[in-house]
Amino acid sequence: LVASMEDVEETYIMVKPDGVQRGLVGEIISRFEKKGFKLTGLKLFQCPKELAEEHYKDLKAKPFFPKLTEYITSGPVVCMAWEGVGVVASARKLIGATNPLQAEPGTIRGDLAVQTGRNVIHGSDSPENGVREIALWFKEGELCPWTQAQAPWLR
Ligand code: TYD
Repeated sequence: LVASMEDVEETYIMVKPDGVQRGLVGEIISRFEKKGFKLTGLKLFQCPKELAEEHYKDLKAKPFFPKLTEYITSGPVVCMAWEGVGVVASARKLIGATNPLQAEPGTIRGDLAVQTGRNVIHGSDSPENGVREIALWFKEGELCPWTQAQAPWLR
């Protein structure tokens, strides 16, 4: 049974500064590509403080909030939009638990990270936040929806 277009979601995935500096960008992109999701936005970006605060606004009251925004703005991040059936929950599975020591082996955090404060990657936690975060991190013309029908190289 093949899913219909209504089941297609979008999620915001971000390689955090530690992931960029450790040279994990290719490995991370590869995992989403191999799973079968579609990349529709991609850029290397130095995040301003205000954007980090807006992105994580639900965590504003947490004691780790200042350290978190400091971490996210400490160097360039790789911003990505990924599209696909069930991509939001599936990306969260590929990413693994917030604390990398609790993340299962085989997940990105389980395989590639140790500390919560350096957990390599972000992924939206709901379809609503996927839409919100993509709009927050990308400008209109930066997103690039495409279909194989436009250039069927894979046939
Ligand atoms: P959260 O949204 O709870 O986790 P996730 O990234 O898995 O969706 O938290 C956002 C980020 O905040 C998390 O990736 C790392 C950081 N963080 C801490 O530094 N300390 C903590 O105790 C928690 C819960 C999160």
